[in-house]
Amino acid sequence: MITSMKITAASLLAGASAVNTSLSLVPASSISQSHVPQFVSYSFEPAFWVEFFGEPDAPRNLTYTLLNHLHERGARPIIRAGGITMDSMIFDPSQKTSVVRTENSKGGIYRTTIGPAFYRSWDNFPEGTTFVSTLNFGNNSVPIARDLALASYNLQKDKIIHYELGNEPTNYPTSRWQGSTKAYVDQWLSFVNQINSALGGNRTGHSSGKWWASSATTDITPLKVRPADLIPAGINNTGQVSQYSIHSYAFATCDPARERLATIPNILNHTDLLRYADHEIYPSAKLAMQQKGEWVIGEFNSIACSGKPGVSDSFAQALWTADVELIYAVRNATSVHLHQGATLVFQSNQQLNTPGDDGTPGFSSYSLLYPINSTKRGEARVLPVFVSQLLVVEALSEGGRIAALKTPRGVAEREFSAYAIFDAAGTRVTKIVALNLKLYYAGQQEQRGEVVLDLGAHRGATVKRMTAPSVDEKDAAKVTWAGQSFKNGVAVGQVAEESLEARGKLSVRDSEAVLLTFE
Ligand SMILES: *[C@@H]1O[C@H](CO)[C@@H](O)[C@H](O)[C@H]1NC(C)=O
Ligand SMILES: *[C@@H]1O[C@H](CO)[C@@H](O)[C@H](O)[C@H]1NC(C)=O
Ligand SMILES: *[C@@H]1O[C@H](CO)[C@@H](O)[C@H](O)[C@H]1NC(C)=O
Ligand SMILES: *[C@@H]1O[C@H](CO)[C@@H](O)[C@H](O)[C@H]1NC(C)=O
Ligand SMILES: *[C@@H]1O[C@H](CO)[C@@H](O)[C@H](O)[C@H]1NC(C)=O
Ligand SMILES: *[C@@H]1O[C@H](CO)[C@@H](O)[C@H](O)[C@H]1NC(C)=O
Ligand SMILES: *[C@@H]1O[C@H](CO)[C@@H](O)[C@H](O)[C@H]1NC(C)=O
Ligand SMILES: *[C@@H]1O[C@H](CO)[C@@H](O)[C@H](O)[C@H]1NC(C)=O
Repeated sequence: MITSMKITAASLLAGASAVNTSLSLVPASSISQSHVPQFVSYSFEPAFWVEFFGEPDAPRNLTYTLLNHLHERGARPIIRAGGITMDSMIFDPSQKTSVVRTENSKGGIYRTTIGPAFYRSWDNFPEGTTFVSTLNFGNNSVPIARDLALASYNLQKDKIIHYELGNEPTNYPTSRWQGSTKAYVDQWLSFVNQINSALGGNRTGHSSGKWWASSATTDITPLKVRPADLIPAGINNTGQVSQYSIHSYAFATCDPARERLATIPNILNHTDLLRYADHEIYPSAKLAMQQKGEWVIGEFNSIACSGKPGVSDSFAQALWTADVELIYAVRNATSVHLHQGATLVFQSNQQLNTPGDDGTPGFSSYSLLYPINSTKRGEARVLPVFVSQLLVVEALSEGGRIAALKTPRGVAEREFSAYAIFDAAGTRVTKIVALNLKLYYAGQQEQRGEVVLDLGAHRGATVKRMTAPSVDEKDAAKVTWAGQSFKNGVAVGQVAEESLEARGKLSVRDSEAVLLTFE
């Protein structure tokens, strides 16, 4: 049983270096739709499925333990077994194990063969977990894509919520569609119709009307297939699209120029996160919503090409993930799928990350965890980012609707973000999330600053805090959510809820976030 202790928020007030300000609860944006328990979701690179989840009869405990923490709090993540390697994935009904990677000596994966065990392992997930059945479009073969669809249908039809054909078509060789959106749409529809027929007919079959469309990145490429391009091109003229999926990666270590920009100050510039969401993602989202369609962030993370050690494996990633997920929640994403995986040699020939020396996985440093011991990343363990998932799940629970709040006087928009969460009816503020994104590094000379928020008279509230000794902390044992840390999966420590008396002030230290819940 979870026991909780109460401490008073006021005891954290440091005094001198505080910015004292008031937080207005009048929304500065529209209030979002009511969020579903699927909002916090994941994407796992299929080639590394066994490293994360094990085999059906030998599940990898650490990953499931993390999912169980979310499940206990009411979350029902959708799992997309997706990413670049789904585009060279084939099904072999006679293969005994879940996944066999066919690699060159440097760890370049040119084929991922899955057997029935891959789908059977879905039974190990917490009750109510659903999946995106991902199909290979990269090999340009209807039989390969259809056989994956049929296998998933035959083994797990009740757990499949969407089908997806192809990952990031923007990155395919230009020769495939010659940069023609229409050529892409025609071929996508042709595959979809043929697969629908194989699964029982294109009006009544299992996959009919259940397709994710787009799966594009926001990179500038000759092929334009973001939802904003596909919707006018008629991708949903026959009603096949259940949701539009967009991939969001604002930073990258795929080449030296972008690697230099993938820094803690840059990924935590809230103004820049808003700019990316509004310029690169929202136009597609808006068009989808104008058609009364749903949209999702089908794959995202902070820094493309597997993250950047020192940045994405630190507490900065927790602050980044919480803020970005809430930015997309305000903009009505139905779900956001945080990507998990390992370095892919064929993704770029000038990237920062590499696999282990012996070709073993070089796990992505933006993942929630390093699922097994590895030469590249050391001991299996949970990374500092995990606590952000607990914050977001608890913030948006019970159908919460979210709005952004105005930057309080005295703090910079770049360094601070706050949100009000309304009940499902949209009438009453039930919670507040505040993130102080001002950087506080280990060993910094000055005292750690804080923003002290005056909330005015209120009903009384409890506060949970997501914190660490510094923004660059890499040891998850020192990173806590409401007083608990999760380095080995299991919660360590008592739940610490602070109580805020009426007229009390809420302190949020630099590089720290809070969730306040009104009584
Ligand atoms: C903020 O408030 C604290 C505690 O009430 C006080 O010690 C501090 O001097 C104030 N700081 C500023 C800049 O007003
Ligand atoms: C989100 O959806 C709500 C309706 O549920 C709407 O009022 C709001 O304007 C939408 N937000 C954005 C940013 O499109
Ligand atoms: C998995 O973890 C749970 C929770 O820590 C523990 O109770 C269980 O014994 C573990 N199972 C295995 C096979 O290690
Ligand atoms: C699928 O395409 C990849 C990349 O072009 C290639 O290496 C692989 O051999 C193809 N697989 C099959 C089964 O055709
Ligand atoms: C149904 O699928 C067939 C191919 O199997 C295709 O020719 C036809 O256009 C599809 N019908 C609709 C309404 O999509
Ligand atoms: C933060 O991002 C904004 C918007 O992209 C940019 O104008 C500004 O220069 C950035 N600030 C810093 C300190 O990098
Ligand atoms: C696609 O069209 C169908 C049928 O008109 C509709 O029900 C569905 O909402 C549309 N999908 C999206 C994402 O707009
Ligand atoms: C992983 O490494 C730790 C620490 O070195 C060790 O105790 C543990 O036995 C290793 N686990 C496996 C499965 O090798």
